Amino acid sequence: MVRIAPSILTSDFARLETQIHALEQAGADWIHLDVMDGVFVPNLTFGPPVISALRKVTRLPLDAHLMIVDPDRWIGTYRDAGADIITVHAEACPHLHRTVHRIRESGAQAGVSINPATPVSMLEEVLSDVDMVLIMSVNPGFGGQTFIPGSLGRIRRVADRIQEIRSGAVIQVDGGIDARTSREVVAAGADVLVAGNFVFSAPTMAEAIATLRRSAAEGLEQRPRPAPNRVV
Ligand code: DX5
Ligand code: ZN
Repeated sequence: MVRIAPSILTSDFARLETQIHALEQAGADWIHLDVMDGVFVPNLTFGPPVISALRKVTRLPLDAHLMIVDPDRWIGTYRDAGADIITVHAEACPHLHRTVHRIRESGAQAGVSINPATPVSMLEEVLSDVDMVLIMSVNPGFGGQTFIPGSLGRIRRVADRIQEIRSGAVIQVDGGIDARTSREVVAAGADVLVAGNFVFSAPTMAEAIATLRRSAAEGLEQRPRPAPNRVV
C-alpha cells in the first residue's frame, strides 16, 4: 500500500495541533516534518522542541526530514523528541554508513535523501542498510515548487537496484507531488508520497489525500509486471 505523508511545511504554524488533527481525520498515514537549518537549505523552519510538542498530540508516525548540516550531532535529540523515521541528506554526511547505523541504533527507522543533482549511485553502498530512500523531486527548501521530470528515471533506477540487491528499503518522493505526479512516481516505484502544497491548498485535506490515493492506485497498475518465470 502506498503511504501518504503530508508535509506541514505549508500548514498554518499558528494552528499546528489543529492542523495535525485535521490531517489525521483526512486519512494521512504519516506526518512529514521538514526540518531546515538555513545552512544546508536557504530556509529555516523548526526543530526538536516543535517535534516534541507534536509528539504529544498525535500517534501518527513522525517522519523527520533533516535538511541540516552535521545531522550526526542531532540523531539522539530528534529521536528523543519523538521522530519515528529520521532521514538525513547524503550530501551532508561524510560518514553516511555510520550515520545510518547510528539512526537505527537510536531506535528510529533510517532514511537517506539525495537532492536532484546528486547521482543515485551515492546511495549504492547504503541501500542494504537503510529503511527508506528519499528522492527529492524539487530542490529542497520550499514548498509549492514544480516537480522535476527527470526524477522519474531516478526513481526507476533506485527501485530496480533495490529489487536487484533485495534491499527492504522503501522509496519516498518529496516535492511537487499532485494528482498527476503521484501517479507517475508510483508507477516508477515510489512507496511513500510527501505532499505539502497539494494537501494544504485543496478545498479539503480529505479530498486531496483521497485523490493522491486514487492516483497512486492507478500508478501501481502501471508498474511493469515482474517478468513471469520463463517456462523452458
Ligand atoms: C521541500 C520539502 C518538501 C516540501 C514538499 O524542501 O522537503 O517536503 O515541503 O512540498 P510540496 O509538496 O508543496 O512540493
Ligand atoms: Zn521534505
